[in-house]
Amino acid sequence: MAKTLRLDKILSHMGYGSRKEITRLCKAGIITVDGKVVKSSSQHIDPVASIIKVGEEEVNYREFVYILMNKPAGVISATEDSRHQTVVDLLDVEYRSFDVFPVGRLDIDTEGFLLLTNDGQLAHRLLAPKKHVPKTYYAHVEGNVTEEDVIAFKGGVTLDDGYQTKPGELTILKSDAISEIELTIYEGKFHQVKRMFEAVGKKVIYLKRIAMGSLKLDEDLELGEYREMTPEELEELTKLDS
Ligand code: URA
Repeated sequence: MAKTLRLDKILSHMGYGSRKEITRLCKAGIITVDGKVVKSSSQHIDPVASIIKVGEEEVNYREFVYILMNKPAGVISATEDSRHQTVVDLLDVEYRSFDVFPVGRLDIDTEGFLLLTNDGQLAHRLLAPKKHVPKTYYAHVEGNVTEEDVIAFKGGVTLDDGYQTKPGELTILKSDAISEIELTIYEGKFHQVKRMFEAVGKKVIYLKRIAMGSLKLDEDLELGEYREMTPEELEELTKLDS
């Protein structure tokens, strides 16, 4: 059955103003639904099936938004903070009314792939520990990363608090005074990548998440830039959740 919502609720959700302001727009005859002026903001509309226009502008209704961000260092993965800029502060005003939040956390100094959404159920399922959604990181590590580390990570390492990690897949891209690696892990303990390297006596000096499952960081996004996910990406995201 089609889901109908009050017109003022739809339009305020989409960032067209408070309910009061929308009532005013309706009274002014600016809002049309399927080509007809609607003067009452309390009218129930199916926002998916109807064409709603505010003036000449068609309203692109959606209940949920899914945003991919290339998180820069220096901002925190939260919705608000008294001291630092947050990833939500980086979003345009058009996304503010959606009340999006980051799905999981990247440290303040970590860059890369961050998903933001207002779809609480999906976020909850993606973060559920038993889902084991793979996350891949690219890192610079002080000192030579070796095959021994690859083997250690494959068996799981013991973190500083005694936690034994699940196996991680470590790929050495360059072993040098500053090594370059990729690491895929299937869980998300606090500072996990940094602490896994600490467990083998090494220090991560640069960290960037490059993928979540088959979803990759869009390299066209500069640090701090973001875009809505494509329908194909959304499909991949739902697969991660299944
Ligand atoms: N592991 C870390 O150590 N930091 C992050 O931000 C993500 C994974």
